[in-house]
Amino acid sequence: MVTNAPIGVFDSGVGGLSVLGEIRQQLPHESLLYVADSGFVPYGERTPEFIRERCALISQFLLAQGAKALVVACNTATAAAVAALRETYPQVPIVGMEPAVKPAAQATRSGKVGVLATTGTLKSAKFAALLDRFAQNVEVHTQPCPGLVEQIEAGELDSPRTAELLTAFTTPLLAAGCDTLILGCTHYPFVRPLLTRLLPAEISLIDTGAAVARQLQRQLSQHGLLAAAEPLPAATRFWTSGELAPLQRALPLLWGEAGEVAKLPV
Ligand code: SIN
Repeated sequence: MVTNAPIGVFDSGVGGLSVLGEIRQQLPHESLLYVADSGFVPYGERTPEFIRERCALISQFLLAQGAKALVVACNTATAAAVAALRETYPQVPIVGMEPAVKPAAQATRSGKVGVLATTGTLKSAKFAALLDRFAQNVEVHTQPCPGLVEQIEAGELDSPRTAELLTAFTTPLLAAGCDTLILGCTHYPFVRPLLTRLLPAEISLIDTGAAVARQLQRQLSQHGLLAAAEPLPAATRFWTSGELAPLQRALPLLWGEAGEVAKLPV
């Protein structure tokens, strides 16, 4: 495998750009490929079988583009599909997301942690295993967030409707005494500024984008796949299974610059 080959990153939509940003920051010499499965977003209420099928097709596509590693930058997709992907591609480093239960359990002072995530993530066996492993000594309150991914996909990061949804989703968690809230979906870091304004100052918010980028760095290093520092990589490439225009519009806002977007052929 060529060390200067790109890293393939994908999500149900634009949420994975929060992870892509962390990867760019920690691994600036890596070339990146990003797939937004926007034709099928949100994944949150879809069946695990459907999500596994989409993830298999997208992974196949990214590997055909020469990807040396894959990042499943979506909590719902990771819960449904990462095990199957690792079985199919045992030679490829594959990094997934998981809600930050361990750091939240260590950080909470009230002993009560809230988890904001999709129904798919919260219902998954992977999430149950995570709680068994890291949340024995804390009380965990979960909150599905239907409609929130759609707001973020629409670029509504600071609208009255998004604020209304965030208030509705966090109120029960605050009432239960949670002082630490996990952002268990890669879309949610994009509404962190709004959430911070809406929540009392003592509430901490935790997400895993930076930890996932560090994990990717470790895996690439273990496999001898870290890119050489020079030359600097070509521009990041983007594909979407939805209309091109929404992703083209989202990139300056969520990725910080415009990018060339192509139609995903699968
Ligand atoms: C979704 O597509 O519903 C959310 C993606 C995620 O869980 O990160």
